[in-house]
Amino acid sequence: MSVKSSVLEILENRRGESVSGNEIAEVLGVSRNAVWKSIKQLRDEGYSILAGTNKGYCLEQGNDILSAEGIKPYLKTKAFGRRIEVFKTIDSTNNYGKVLAGQKAEHGTLVLSDMQTGGRGRLSRPFYSPAGAGIYMSLLLRPKLPLEQSVMITSCAAVAVAQAVERITGAETKIKWVNDVFTGGKKLCGILTEAGMDFESGTLDYAVVGMGINVTNKAFPEELKDVATSIEMECQKDFSRNQLIAEVLNVFEPYYEQLSEKKFLDEYIRRSNILGKEVTVYEGTSFYPATAVAIDEAARLIIRTPDGTEKALNSGEVSVRSLRY
Ligand code: BTN
Repeated sequence: MSVKSSVLEILENRRGESVSGNEIAEVLGVSRNAVWKSIKQLRDEGYSILAGTNKGYCLEQGNDILSAEGIKPYLKTKAFGRRIEVFKTIDSTNNYGKVLAGQKAEHGTLVLSDMQTGGRGRLSRPFYSPAGAGIYMSLLLRPKLPLEQSVMITSCAAVAVAQAVERITGAETKIKWVNDVFTGGKKLCGILTEAGMDFESGTLDYAVVGMGINVTNKAFPEELKDVATSIEMECQKDFSRNQLIAEVLNVFEPYYEQLSEKKFLDEYIRRSNILGKEVTVYEGTSFYPATAVAIDEAARLIIRTPDGTEKALNSGEVSVRSLRY
């Protein structure tokens, strides 16, 4: 770990407090000059660090720069986020998550970027990922589970995001089957899980769970403005992205560990914003009207078509739209 990174870790752990240069130097076993150089580098990277005579250094509360050091003070997990890779820009954190999977990176590795140039959603749609406005993160998992359970990872992640956002912001969140988190009737977060098979065992070698949360966007492009929202557009933002990322992981890990017991499922059903509603089901190039009736034990959506036939939908095949959420 570099001196700069260690200094940042100390300041993040005591955000809003003054820590003397002497104390930092002693804890790290480096000179005060080395501490000062690190403070300068951090300021050059955009951190707002106050320095008062005889008071020391204080990392101001408002800083919202993504970093492993900023996430760790809030993290209560065993494996999720124990390794974190942060980028200023990247094509897609999911792409890099898959590269790391191929390099045998460990379960729980997290990839983050301040912006994405090729952010992707389900059904090959682009995911709007402007700099500094959102959380674009991908979590690498090594599920030791039968395939039929692994497919519920996305639903489980949706519950984690919904609960974490609610805990941190107080905003009420809903889940639109299968992978979108909504607040105020609009989409706040999308989730895209991509996986690689281990053909020997017939189980997954890895899953990369990509989560995109709109945080400080003040507006969206024309094609998204009626359907997308951000935390800042719905409520007061008085937390850092690092804090919310940690909370998502804190909520997600225990649900994931109990995936076979489906501990997330009641909450997934309770938060659904389409049950009982008229929806349009899109399957490839065709579409038809239906009523969303229930979510079953495998987190599939049960729909009823106008002729009374009931059908269970799997996440990969279809997209569902409702007139009102
Ligand atoms: C969707 O809305 O259909 C899913 C959107 C998923 C977006 C996230 S952002 C982080 C990760 N990287 C990507 O390219 N996509 C996911």
